[in-house]
Amino acid sequence: MKKMKSNSQIRIVDITEKQEYENYLYRCLAPMPFRRYARRQEYLQKAIPKGFRKKLLIFDGNVVGTIEYAPAEASGYPITGNNVIAMNCIWVLRKAKGHNFGKLLMKDMMKNEKNASGFATIALEDHWSPWFEKWQMEKLGFKPIDSISVTHKTKHEDQVFTIYLMWMPKKKNAKPPTMNWQKLLQGETFCMAHPLYRPQTWKDSILELKQ
Ligand SMILES: CC(C)(COP(=O)(O)OP(=O)(O)OC[C@H]1O[C@@H](n2cnc3c(N)ncnc32)[C@H](O)[C@@H]1OP(=O)(O)O)[C@@H](O)C(=O)NCCC(=O)NCCS
Repeated sequence: MKKMKSNSQIRIVDITEKQEYENYLYRCLAPMPFRRYARRQEYLQKAIPKGFRKKLLIFDGNVVGTIEYAPAEASGYPITGNNVIAMNCIWVLRKAKGHNFGKLLMKDMMKNEKNASGFATIALEDHWSPWFEKWQMEKLGFKPIDSISVTHKTKHEDQVFTIYLMWMPKKKNAKPPTMNWQKLLQGETFCMAHPLYRPQTWKDSILELKQ
């Protein structure tokens, strides 16, 4: 781990309902222009009252990390589980790597969600993007409990990749969550920058099962 200057400042800010950070609620850390796009807006309107949270990690005044989560039923994935929190996304910019900021964001989530039976998310293997890599999610403490292999219908159509349901139980005897894979094949609509995003113009499932 890199040594931090003793005067380095790390802050985790909950931006869910902070107007001044609204752009981060939509474009996240992605270098894309801020736009209040309809599908994200619809998702936020439904999810925030049910416990959705988005946080930023600010290091020496720069936004370098983020985490987004919600109770499974309000998350961006078709995950079902009793008292399960599903992490929609976690991201620490490469320029800030080496400080374990990912684990710090996870700790903050766990501290704020003490009653959760456990935490779930997804991971990808053999996907062409660097996103949601399984080894990274494992490094954060999640373990794979189920998976399917798929292709994408509009991108890299010949490349079979695997989607995992990842789980980190917290309570003793916590029942593992389940994924509605059929629904996941449709793609997600909560974030445009997500590798499983289904564009508004695509009416069918964006993924095809390969097994
Ligand atoms: C997963 C993630 C949050 C971790 O970020 P981080 O906390 O800055 O990671 P660090 O560089 O501090 O490394 C954390 C650990 O991984 C290890 N690690 C980092 N890079 C590694 C590599 N290439 N190989 C093996 N281990 C590695 C570090 O040694 C460290 O291990 P330790 O916990 O035993 O000390 C970050 O990599 C990330 O944002 N990845 C992309 C996530 C994603 O796809 N988000 C979706 C966006 S759409």
